[in-house]
Amino acid sequence: MFSDLMPALVRDTARLRLRRPRPEDAAIIFATYASDPEVTRYLAWRPHRSVRETEAHVARATADWAGKREYVYAITLREEGEAPVGAIAIRGAGHAVSFGFVLSRPHWGRGIVTEALSELLGWTLGQRGIWRAAAFCDVDNLASALVMEKAGMSLEGINRRAIVHPNLSPEPRDVRMYARVN
Ligand SMILES: CC(C)(COP(=O)(O)OP(=O)(O)OC[C@H]1O[C@@H](n2cnc3c(N)ncnc32)[C@H](O)[C@@H]1OP(=O)(O)O)[C@@H](O)C(=O)NCCC(=O)NCCS
Repeated sequence: MFSDLMPALVRDTARLRLRRPRPEDAAIIFATYASDPEVTRYLAWRPHRSVRETEAHVARATADWAGKREYVYAITLREEGEAPVGAIAIRGAGHAVSFGFVLSRPHWGRGIVTEALSELLGWTLGQRGIWRAAAFCDVDNLASALVMEKAGMSLEGINRRAIVHPNLSPEPRDVRMYARVN
């Protein structure tokens, strides 16, 4: 069950270190992706306008770890030090988990999020009581759809008018639903 999950505070893959975000990450997260309108185009939140917004976002992530509500990992590159280049979140309820992810623009197209998602899909689906791992993306977010397919998730369909992506439109938009199951 999601409530029984105990994600490690740090997870390494071939190129990445996933770790819990820290308050001192806020300035770099703000500067490298949270304030970038290209990065946030298909996300449910607007670009941050000040580092204070990012500080609040990091504080919320820390509280969510403690409250077992959501596990956000900062994505860092093992060969390039501690600075976050993106983030990947595990959410869930009951027997299902779902993922969200974001990466700073200079790192797009290098397979980084595919590597992070593959790691966490493998881990979550290996945990007792977890049967389903899902994620969705805006119907126009091709890169995100490709990441999910490359990580072994299958398209389940389009949820119509499902989510507001405020940087695109105030109206709810269609999303592609993906999942991998046991
Ligand atoms: C979506 C995102 C996380 C992809 O991360 P990534 O590490 O660049 O993805 P990968 O390198 O694993 O690439 C996956 C595929 O998408 C392609 N791709 C990457 N960026 C792309 C872009 N901007 N447009 C079209 N295709 C793109 C890659 O070439 C790759 O395909 P390939 O294997 O056939 O070459 C990243 O682009 C991002 O952070 N976007 C903004 C935030 C966002 O939309 N998050 C997802 C919300 S659902």
